[in-house]
Amino acid sequence: MRSILVANPKGGSGKTTLATHLAGYLASLGRQVVLADLDRQQSAAGWLERRPAQLPTIHSHHASKKSVNPDWMVIDSPAGLHGDKLTAAVKLAELVIVPVQPSAFDMLATGDFLRVLRKEKAVRKEKSQVAMVGMRVDPRTRSAAELADFLLAAEFPVLTYLRDAQLYVQCANEGFSLFDLPPGRAARDVEQWQPLLEWISAY
Ligand SMILES: Nc1ncnc2c1ncn2[C@@H]1O[C@H](COP(=O)(O)OP(=O)(O)OP(=O)(O)O)[C@@H](O)[C@H]1O
Ligand SMILES: [Mg+2]
Repeated sequence: MRSILVANPKGGSGKTTLATHLAGYLASLGRQVVLADLDRQQSAAGWLERRPAQLPTIHSHHASKKSVNPDWMVIDSPAGLHGDKLTAAVKLAELVIVPVQPSAFDMLATGDFLRVLRKEKAVRKEKSQVAMVGMRVDPRTRSAAELADFLLAAEFPVLTYLRDAQLYVQCANEGFSLFDLPPGRAARDVEQWQPLLEWISAY
């Protein structure tokens, strides 16, 4: 089993959106997927409960203890994750994805987090690979250029930039992902995911 942790202690950075979509994508490929939710708010677990039964199955962490032999575990983590809990979560995951929004507050908080992440043993020894994703980015804006500069300096690969789209909000409300929609329905957004999906597929 391979594991992906989605982490950024900054609240609202896009962790649950990324985690639920990655689970949706892997399930759409026919993989056995477990979605683990470390957040007490249980947003990812709630999304899974709202997921329509006819869509590709994603297992909850609790159910998976019984009968599932997963190919992938996707781990959503809470705002404020730090210390021993962060160390334990990073140790669990071969891949760590950090979403960042184009705002000064988000970049400052994320900069602090990346410094901590770089010191984690699993990251230093390259047992866990870290990559960044720009979240809710409008490329025409000055803040998008500032985010690009910030991410370039971060020394971890920048996989893609996802735009702000109401479809993500609808996905959150209704328990689906872009990858559960009919082909072409979300073509522009799905295209933005490709570099991230290729990065994951390489593992
Ligand atoms: N690309 C996007 N376009 C539009 N809305 C988005 C996008 N990404 C996230 N959102 C919305 O922004 C809000 C915060 O995103 P999300 O819940 O994924 O962040 P989070 O990091 O999990 O937050 P928390 O730290 O509270 O767990 C949600 O309402 C989500 O639907
Ligand atoms: Mg969340």
